Amino acid sequence: MKLHGTMRIDNNQLLIGDVSVEQLREEYGTPLYIIDQKHFINKARIFLDNFRSEKFKTHISYASKAFSNLYILGLTKEIGLFLDVVSGGELYTALAAGYDPEKISLHGNNKLPEELEMALTNNIGRIIVDHRTEYSVLSALAAKKQKKTKVLLRVNPGIVADTHKYIQTTTEDSKFGMSIVDPETFLLLQDMSSDPWLELEGIHCHIGSQVLNKDFFFQEASIMFSFTRKLLDDYSIKLREVNLGGGFGVYYTEADQPFNYAEFLAEYIVEIEQIIAELNLAIEIVSIEPGRSLINSSGSTLYTVGAVKQSYHGKPFIFVDGGMTDNPRPALYQAEYEACLANRMQEEPTDNYRIAGKCCESGDILIEDVALPQAEPGDLLLIPGTGAYNYAMSSNYNRIPRPAVVFVENGQSRLAVKKETYTDLIRNDQKYL
Ligand SMILES: Cc1ncc(COP(=O)(O)O)c(C=O)c1O
Repeated sequence: MKLHGTMRIDNNQLLIGDVSVEQLREEYGTPLYIIDQKHFINKARIFLDNFRSEKFKTHISYASKAFSNLYILGLTKEIGLFLDVVSGGELYTALAAGYDPEKISLHGNNKLPEELEMALTNNIGRIIVDHRTEYSVLSALAAKKQKKTKVLLRVNPGIVADTHKYIQTTTEDSKFGMSIVDPETFLLLQDMSSDPWLELEGIHCHIGSQVLNKDFFFQEASIMFSFTRKLLDDYSIKLREVNLGGGFGVYYTEADQPFNYAEFLAEYIVEIEQIIAELNLAIEIVSIEPGRSLINSSGSTLYTVGAVKQSYHGKPFIFVDGGMTDNPRPALYQAEYEACLANRMQEEPTDNYRIAGKCCESGDILIEDVALPQAEPGDLLLIPGTGAYNYAMSSNYNRIPRPAVVFVENGQSRLAVKKETYTDLIRNDQKYL
């Protein structure tokens, strides 16, 4: 297993942030989400230090859908990241974390009128409009509330990024945004640019997630700025901002070879500067929205092994005390992971195990096949690379409480989210009689 961030081995034990995971189990129980704080901050710095230009402002906007709670948003706020939210709940969390509303953008293909209203009431920085119906609702709301608001239109440049189809977002029949070849898109942009209550700042696109080939991002930039030029030439629509979304791929297993972010971002900014200069555009802000690439490798999930069981055909299973409730990605889109026995780090693998959760679903398999040392009940199994879209997508299926989230750094651990209790599970239930 690849060791991420501050992970290190001491005396057969795994440590993260200089805290042994055995100690974390004793203090917080399992399953447990562990976040390596120093590693996260270092990742954020890579984005802030390398995606910057003398020619225009750059915004690094953390895609909070990847992992959102008061603690992490307090940290991203302090580091100086902008924030992308995609629902009233994410917006509420951001505001409760004390985020400057001006730094928040609201996304979503079907924002509810009350979510748009909430964004207007709280003066959030930008609303990324997805389609005409939403534009009409927003325009009417802004007029009613007499509130001017900055908007971008989410466009679809028709790039088919090489990733799982559930996380491709700019295929021609994607549910997101407006196609750049659809005549209706130009009409909508004209209406948005002349709307008395909306300030059309620019366009946005996001080509998909877990994209490992950086060429797609260069292609995206070229298409997006050419489209910006076309809007100016053919429709006299002048834009000052282009948001290129997120999607930068990460390492889950040896099959993933992510590009070096620092090198890529420095190259990307030069390329963007050149494109803007060649097209003679007056762009003032270029934004990106990393989610997975910022948080994923900082996060791990720690489980206790409950049993080791041979199937009738001889496949050895390791059963852990969590599963698809804390990590639905393998069941959802065949996501793959590495794992280790965190209390047997220096022992040789003896078997190829299948790691199964405790949920009543045959599909509740976290890893199909992983070589590990001889496992026994009570061992600690750790799956790294679970920072993004794990806690965020967790559920209470089978009425299993969500695990706690703990941040570790310099030998200290800090509880960020308490483990749910059985009382939490029935909090909103109403009795029959
Ligand atoms: C609009 C938008 N921006 C950014 C992201 C973040 O993507 P990633 O986590 O792959 O960086 C997403 C994810 O789906 C998205 O929909």
